[in-house]
Amino acid sequence: MEYTTLGDTGMSVSRIGLGTMNFGWEAEGWRLDGEQSREIIERAIDLGVTFFDTANVYRSGQSEEVLGDVLADYARDRFVVATKVHGSMDEDNPNARGLSRKAIEQELENSLERLGMETIDLYQIHRWDDDTPIRETLATLDDAGRRGQVRYIGASSMWAYQFATALHTSDRFGLERFVSMQNHYNPVYREEEREMLPLCQQEGVGVIPWSPLARGYVTRPHEAFASTDRGSEESESRPDRHATYRAGGGETINRRIEEIADEHGVSMAQIAIAWHLHTEPVTAPIIGVSSIEHLEEAVAAVDVDLTDDDLAYLNEPYEAAPVNGHG
Ligand SMILES: NC(=O)c1ccc[n+]([C@@H]2O[C@H](COP(=O)([O-])OP(=O)(O)OC[C@H]3O[C@@H](n4cnc5c(N)ncnc54)[C@H](OP(=O)(O)O)[C@@H]3O)[C@@H](O)[C@H]2O)c1
Repeated sequence: MEYTTLGDTGMSVSRIGLGTMNFGWEAEGWRLDGEQSREIIERAIDLGVTFFDTANVYRSGQSEEVLGDVLADYARDRFVVATKVHGSMDEDNPNARGLSRKAIEQELENSLERLGMETIDLYQIHRWDDDTPIRETLATLDDAGRRGQVRYIGASSMWAYQFATALHTSDRFGLERFVSMQNHYNPVYREEEREMLPLCQQEGVGVIPWSPLARGYVTRPHEAFASTDRGSEESESRPDRHATYRAGGGETINRRIEEIADEHGVSMAQIAIAWHLHTEPVTAPIIGVSSIEHLEEAVAAVDVDLTDDDLAYLNEPYEAAPVNGHG
C-alpha cells in the first residue's frame, strides 16, 4: 500500500480508500451482509488500507454500525474514518436531514453512537443545503471540532461556486475549512475537471472520488455491464447513470481500458484505479467492492504503472457529458 496526506493536512491516508455504502447486517440484492462486510474490512486492514468512508444514510445507519463493530477490534488510532451528514434519516422529521445546526448536531451524535467512536476523523457534508446558510453549517462543524467530536471537515458533490463560497466563508469568519472534496469522477465522467478540480488544487483540498469505477461500468466490457447483480439492478432502475457514462465517450473508453489491461496483463478495474492514481489532484479513490477478490485487485493496482501514452489514449475519447451526481 502507498500512503499520502489528505490535501494540505498532515493526516495520512492510504491511496486506496474503502467505500462501505454496500455494507450492512443483512444481505439485500447486491448489498452485503455482516459477515461478508466484516471479511472485507478485515482483509483491507491486512492489506494496509487505513481510510474508510461511510455515511449516516448508507443502509440507514447499518454501514456505520458494521464498520464501527469491526474497527472496535483494532487500535482506533490506526484508521481514518470518514462519514457524512445531509441525507434524510427520517422522512417524517424535517430536522433529520440537511445541514442546519439542529440536524448536524443530532446526526453527529447518532453517527458517533453507531460507529462506537468518540471522534470522527473526517466529517463530510454529503451535499449542499439550499435551506441553510453555509455560515451556520460551518459554525456548527467548527464547534464540533472544538468539542473533539470531529477532527477534519470535508464536502461532497456540489457546484464549484458553492464550494468556493464555503471556503471563503471559513476564511472570512475564522471557521474550520473543508479539507477534502468527495466528488463523482472516473475515466468516463470527467466534468469535475472543468471547475472543481482546479479549485481543489489551488486551495490545497484533497480529492477523494466516489464511484471511481463508474459503479462497475469500467471494470468489465461494455456489453457485460448488466451481468452482475448490481449491474442488472442499476441498468433497470437507474438507466440515466449509464447514459451519462455513454455520453462521456464511455463505450470507446471502456474498450480502450480493456486493451490496455490486456497489454499490462491486469484487470480492467486495475487500469481504472491506476488511472486515478496517476491523475492529479486525486488523493485516494473511494473504491466500492463486492468481494475479497475486488479488494485484492484494488490494492494491487497501486503497483500498476501507466505510461503517458496509456493515459493519453484513455483520456482522448472523452466528451462533455451532462452533470451527474450533484442531486
Ligand atoms: N459522496 C457521495 O455522494 C457518494 C456517492 C456514491 C458512493 N460514494 C462512496 O463511494 C464508494 C464507492 O462507490 P461505488 O460502489 O459506486 O464505486 P465504484 O468503485 O465505482 O464501483 C464499485 C463496483 O465496481 C465493481 N468492481 C469493483 N472492483 C472490481 C474488480 N476488481 N473487478 C470487477 N469489478 C469490480 C463492482 O461491481 P459489481 O458489484 O457489479 O461486481 C463494485 O460494486 C461507496 O461505497 C461510498 O463510500 C459516495
